Amino acid sequence: MKTIGVLTSGGDAPGMNAAIRAVVRYGIFNNLRVMGIKKGYNGLVNGNIEEMQLSSVADIIHRGGTILRTARSEEFKTEEGMKKALNVIKVFGIDGIIVIGGDGSFKGAHKLSEHGISTIGIPGTIDNDLGYTDYTIGFYTAVNTVLDAISKIRDTSTSHGRANIIEVMGRHCGDIALYAGLAGGAESIIVPEEELNVDDICKKLIQGRNRGKLHSIIILSENIVNAYELGEEIQEKTGITTRVTIPGHIQRGGSPVAFDRIIASNMGARAVQLLLEGKTSRAIGIKGNGLIDKGIEEAIAEESDFDNKMFELTKILSI
Ligand code: ADP
Ligand code: F6P
Repeated sequence: MKTIGVLTSGGDAPGMNAAIRAVVRYGIFNNLRVMGIKKGYNGLVNGNIEEMQLSSVADIIHRGGTILRTARSEEFKTEEGMKKALNVIKVFGIDGIIVIGGDGSFKGAHKLSEHGISTIGIPGTIDNDLGYTDYTIGFYTAVNTVLDAISKIRDTSTSHGRANIIEVMGRHCGDIALYAGLAGGAESIIVPEEELNVDDICKKLIQGRNRGKLHSIIILSENIVNAYELGEEIQEKTGITTRVTIPGHIQRGGSPVAFDRIIASNMGARAVQLLLEGKTSRAIGIKGNGLIDKGIEEAIAEESDFDNKMFELTKILSI
């Protein structure tokens, strides 16, 4: 192993830069050449690649986004795209590739490994929707961003005595809603892992009002129901004025929190280590307090491990 490449793919996540920094610095420390592949798999297909130096990753550990840029590449999924990518890998003399992204990006990494290229996946997505790992890079930063929104909305919710719906990201995973909802003391949390019951939410709102609660925060995971229509239904059924806030892509940006920087740094170094040990098609994760690595295929086949116990706790604590 002499030359390795690193790319970020799919949706960006705060902490990706900290992972790139760790790959580059740990790689160079181990006498490897490290190539930065730009815009995800597009860079591999089009040869948009630059050698990274120690200084290429200076002053980025605290920055959101990804200095390598990211993209979704349809071409890479085609046979022709894969052929082009394999040719570029040969021309640049790349022996192994570290892919930072979500499950789609991991599928691409596995395909490359089937063509004889060593690949390692680092989980980078705010959604925390990969079941094989407790946490993905960017998740805790997104949770903190939502928490900040909850705190601000709670102020005005209390002043006006309104119900406020906050729609959060997560694709088809309720983790951002669950963690931010627990930390923010939300009255109701709507997640894809449990069937929506609007009447229960309304009942809870009215019970809260009857015992003098002024604010009502409802956290809604995206892709379940139209937030504005839900707001109208709740207002009609309870008589409580309801407002909707959708933080949207604000959740994808910002300076990564310490936890994301720490796991990104550790995972970046471990990825290089695995390539040096001759491993391929491995996904790095975190279980308990330690790093793990698993076959990529096995890792992406694992169901998301939604924490039902914690979800039940949020219901008890918000009565
Ligand atoms: P994420 O990695 O965040 O889940 P996507 O699902 O959009 O994001 O995947 C990112 C990129 O990974 C895709 O644009 C594509 O280039 C590559 N990819 C996804 N699925 C496959 C696949 N089955 N085979 C090859 N490449 C894939
Ligand atoms: O996967 C990260 C994520 O932000 C999801 O939470 C969201 O559903 C999706 O990406 C949004 O994608 P885009 O940035 O393409 O709008």
